[in-house]
Amino acid sequence: MRAACGLNGLFITLEGGEGAGKSVQLDALAAELSGQGRNVVTTREPGGTPLGDRLREVLLDLDSEFDPLAEAMLFAAARAELVSTVIKPALDRGDFVICDRYSDSTVAYQGYASGVDLMSIGQLNQISTGGLLPDLTVLLDLPVEDGLQRSGGSDRFESEDVAFHERVRKGYLALAEHDTERWLVVDATQERIAITSQILERVATLL
Ligand code: TYD
Repeated sequence: MRAACGLNGLFITLEGGEGAGKSVQLDALAAELSGQGRNVVTTREPGGTPLGDRLREVLLDLDSEFDPLAEAMLFAAARAELVSTVIKPALDRGDFVICDRYSDSTVAYQGYASGVDLMSIGQLNQISTGGLLPDLTVLLDLPVEDGLQRSGGSDRFESEDVAFHERVRKGYLALAEHDTERWLVVDATQERIAITSQILERVATLL
């Protein structure tokens, strides 16, 4: 179920590995769409709600260590709260929602990189989102080494080894390849402004 089907707003998610520049692009996109007179709600995962923020602390804590399925379930719990209290109400109002990471992150990180079977991840994602899929998902794709250099390795995921992040990247590219209607893959080594305009070009086709 796409946001635009049955609901009024537009739902855009940004995905990518560490240091891909999602937050910069999220700000640029939000500013541009607000400038066009849209009501824009920006949020992120994990987080965006009091429960999500508490789970975020636990999930990113360098001293934590979890079973990957339990980890996926915690991300799913944070997402369920965000979808029901923030994302769905905003889309129902007709707002544009831009979210930094969403269910595809769980597929890439806990599925492809940590080895939880993709069927279980799919079930968790279906339950936590109620089947709500973005209208557009932008993958900011970057060579792993570049991204890790940019991000500095300060949380639990950034501290994983290069092979882990290569699996994340591979997972994202596989997802994008299987649904080119929803996904836009952007070369994140380009200038920021070039990246923003490619995203805006695609957004324009959805309006
Ligand atoms: P964050 O600081 O937001 O990283 P980034 O700036 O790269 O988005 O931390 C979120 C981390 O959580 C990130 O490393 C990816 C990871 N993550 C998962 O492993 N699974 C998920 O489902 C989500 C939403 C995030």
